[in-house]
Amino acid sequence: MNFTFTEEQLMIKQTAKEFAESEIAPSTVERDIKGEFPYDIVKKLGELGFMGMMVSPEWGGAGLDTISYVLAMEEISKVDASVGVIMSVNNSLVCWGLEEYGTPEQKEKYLKPLAQGKMLGAFALSEPEAGSDATNQHTIAEKDGDYWILNGTKNWITNGTTADVYLVMAQTNRQLRHKGISAFIVEKDFPGFERGKKEDKLGIRSSDTCSLMFSNCRVPKENLLWEEGKGFNFAMNTLNGGRIGIAAQALGIAQASLEAAIKYSKERKAFGKPIAELQAIQFKLADMATKVEAARLLTLQAASLKDQQKDFAVQAAMAKLFASRVAMECADEAIQIHGGYGYVREYLVERYLRDAKITEIYEGTSEIQRIVIARNLIK
Ligand code: CAA
Repeated sequence: MNFTFTEEQLMIKQTAKEFAESEIAPSTVERDIKGEFPYDIVKKLGELGFMGMMVSPEWGGAGLDTISYVLAMEEISKVDASVGVIMSVNNSLVCWGLEEYGTPEQKEKYLKPLAQGKMLGAFALSEPEAGSDATNQHTIAEKDGDYWILNGTKNWITNGTTADVYLVMAQTNRQLRHKGISAFIVEKDFPGFERGKKEDKLGIRSSDTCSLMFSNCRVPKENLLWEEGKGFNFAMNTLNGGRIGIAAQALGIAQASLEAAIKYSKERKAFGKPIAELQAIQFKLADMATKVEAARLLTLQAASLKDQQKDFAVQAAMAKLFASRVAMECADEAIQIHGGYGYVREYLVERYLRDAKITEIYEGTSEIQRIVIARNLIK
């Protein structure tokens, strides 16, 4: 595999890095403490073309490849993983799903503004009783003339209180189990649709997560996405790409942890010299750097396969499984190297650990990634 980046890919990476450092970093700590959504930043990301990176220009996107998306996601998440997930959900789960499976009318009405960052999207699969066991959908959609009537509850929805458009999975034929699930496009103002209170989370606190309630929510029949009964396949296919985005987010957190650990260990003196000169610290740094590099290669491999239109689901699962663990381990080691200073907000690394944890949970837990990988090995 050739990972010599093109000039365009390097330019995207640099743009993301500069934007993250100048526009995102100054407010990251305060937004984390207050749990504040970064409205202005998301608007600017839209203007940069970062909210619809892989969408073709015909539908308002930047027309970039998945490698560029990974490079940008890493740089943004390195500075603020909350901004990373907001961007990732809009790009991978919402825009990609609409471009791949939407009708031209749906693309004109929803994809264009979503890709331009004029609207924000969310993806609603999880339910109170359908997290990892995602086929166990209880939200129901019944036909009523020109409408579908949705009833049910969705949980843990990223961009939940702030999105304009939601891609919602619901049972249209319970007897058919997962083959009776369909996907719908729901606007925030549709009657019968309500958003719950923002969750008070351990990490990625500046992104917003909430439940969604549907009580006889009327969805026009033209808002059915792809075909009736294809909603579960839609969700799985979309999540495969999403997992590359989350792997890149985890990579950003891991890289940030490594850089913080290097910086601190060169400054901090103990036993008469910078702790970077102690082998105990050097071994930690070496292990962290090696794991970060391996996570990066796995993530780029999955992105490269996707760009070549080859099967990438297993490689995406491997990338997410590995990169999320590396993010946890690197954040943990960064705190250990900082000692007591790592345990307080001032040195940032405590946030890296809080932010890292979710990468092992959303868009399929690490256990689900192992299922995807193992099933492929024994099929
Ligand atoms: N890619 C494509 N298709 C897949 C797939 C994958 N990775 N995994 C499963 N499928 C397909 C299967 O091929 C099958 O399709 P057909 O019946 O048409 O052949 C269908 O899905 C059902 O699969 P199984 O029969 O294997 O069903 P299962 O119940 O044994 O396993 C599962 C399904 C893999 C566990 C699935 O439920 C799953 O992935 N669960 C995790 C759900 C998840 O990732 N949720 C994330 C929520 S969204 C989120 O977090 C976004 C956010 O806000 C940040």
